[in-house]
Amino acid sequence: MKYPKEYLDEIKTRLKVSTVVSKTVKLKKRGKEFVGLSPFKTEKTPSFTVNDEKEFYHCFSTSEHGNIFDFVMKTQNLRFGEAVKMLSNLAGMQPYTFSKQDEEREKKWRSYKSICKNFSEFYINELFKNENSIKAKNYLKSRGLSGVDVKNFNLGFVTEELDYYDILKKDFDEETIKDTGLFYFDEKKKKYISRFRNRIIFPINNISGNIIGFGGRIIVDNKNIAKYINSPETPFFKKGSNLYNLDKARKLSNKLEDVYLVEGYMDVIGLSKNGIENTVANLGTALTSKQVQILNQFYNHIIICFDGDQSGYKAAIRAAENIIDELKPDKKISFLLLENNLDPDNFVNKYGKQKFLEFSEKNSIPIHKFIFEHYLNHTNENPSSKAIFEKKLRDIASNIKDTFIKKYTLEYFLEKISELTPNINSNFSKNFKLTTKSLAKTKNYYNETKSLKSFEIKEFSFLYILLKKPKLINRNIHLIDNVKLYSPENKLVFEKILKQSQDLTNLEVSKLEIDKNLINRIMNYASVKYIIQKNIHNDEKVLEIFSEVIQDLKNYELEQRIMDLESKFSQDLSEDTFNELKELKKLQKIN
Ligand code: UTP
Ligand code: MN
Repeated sequence: MKYPKEYLDEIKTRLKVSTVVSKTVKLKKRGKEFVGLSPFKTEKTPSFTVNDEKEFYHCFSTSEHGNIFDFVMKTQNLRFGEAVKMLSNLAGMQPYTFSKQDEEREKKWRSYKSICKNFSEFYINELFKNENSIKAKNYLKSRGLSGVDVKNFNLGFVTEELDYYDILKKDFDEETIKDTGLFYFDEKKKKYISRFRNRIIFPINNISGNIIGFGGRIIVDNKNIAKYINSPETPFFKKGSNLYNLDKARKLSNKLEDVYLVEGYMDVIGLSKNGIENTVANLGTALTSKQVQILNQFYNHIIICFDGDQSGYKAAIRAAENIIDELKPDKKISFLLLENNLDPDNFVNKYGKQKFLEFSEKNSIPIHKFIFEHYLNHTNENPSSKAIFEKKLRDIASNIKDTFIKKYTLEYFLEKISELTPNINSNFSKNFKLTTKSLAKTKNYYNETKSLKSFEIKEFSFLYILLKKPKLINRNIHLIDNVKLYSPENKLVFEKILKQSQDLTNLEVSKLEIDKNLINRIMNYASVKYIIQKNIHNDEKVLEIFSEVIQDLKNYELEQRIMDLESKFSQDLSEDTFNELKELKKLQKIN
């Protein structure tokens, strides 16, 4: 059975050719393309090129040519199905399983997209040809759109009087037509009516450029009906996983670092016609993490530029909170706040591309700063207000998935809190310092009691006996030959003990120049503490225990060496390493 095209397309859109190829071939960027040494032939000068925009690789010395599937099939000797499995996995997708239902769905999807395409084409034609569309044409003109702009975005106008449902019914099954959400049943008229009638329609494409839904705008001011409506969620149109204009904007990601994320269809069109085509819009719903993940596959920097009014600001802060947990070390999210109720469309039409880019360059603020400042502005002198403020910021930071970003965002928030001006509150920063200090203490305690490593406790036991019975050990000094300690603190204690007394007979614990805490740790946590205390006068028993402890330490050392060698072996695969490893494992068995 064939893999559905959109499954393969999704793999292709998630994985750039250069990403796949660079797993095995070292690539260098040259203009729009990448070059490297051909994997199909030994060569000294690179003749192998990769073009992400065109989604293929080409080797000039062997004439090999193809897409990501061809590449892994040829370089790794895989069959097509295996290549699909491997690449879908690399793309983070579920493996494709074929079933009867899949076939059904595939069939439905083919009709679904044909219906959407036919619908779009039909009403593009109506906009241009039907004389009743004159109001719509004038409206578009009044919005500053030329015929070319309208064509570029495939805008249409849904004229009122046509029963397009009946036309579609001739070629498609009714269930699928209903699935598209383009029509609803009018109980009075007893027929299917177009949801978008009397509206200008904006086709919404999926990532591969197939129409999956529409947005529609009224052309006359009427406060009683929604200015915009969008297709409902359908089996093939999920608002939270799609973005308007993504299919076009993603193609520019080889040339550009940033992508603008705006609120409306008209913002995308306004920016694009002014030469800023790296622009997408979310679809009349709150921004989702999924949408950020999708954009991050193409762009390193997302600039969110919503309307410069109150509702735009609210949507922005809501978006910021929804998506900050997706931040990754190599990705950036910024916010660009417009003023005076302007939206990106108004701004760029009024001031032009250059001014917009300059404004963006100067005024974009990173997401963590945006969030911090928002909450700061909503905080007053009141202690409970400040407490809520700090708690909120800690909560936000703690939800970030990437541990490094989490750490540094929290650090940024806490540092800013402690830096707050003395007028806001000097006690505040004092409090902050106090809490961090006590936190550090708690953490230490936790570390010492709960996360002492077993080898550390063994080392404590070793040192404990040494400190309690120095004379006895001195008489059996050969026992401590070749004992190696790992924890830096314990090592230090051991060295100081050996240094202080030529022989251990005159060892005086109180005169050791060691931090008392280190000694206390040994005295508290040595696991042999009680048994030694009980047998303190039974030298034979003490020596027996001491020998056991030393044996354990030696085994630990062996284990460490084996682990090191194993990781070395996994990298160099050398025979010497392997033989050494074998010897050590033998030794481990004997012990
Ligand atoms: P706006 O009202 O800001 O859109 O809504 P706009 O592009 O500035 O509108 P005009 O055409 O210039 O007046 C932004 C987005 O919010 C959704 C739509 O997706 C719209 O593009 N929206 C808005 C709705 O879903 N329904 C509405 O009634 C209004
Ligand atoms: Mn707007």
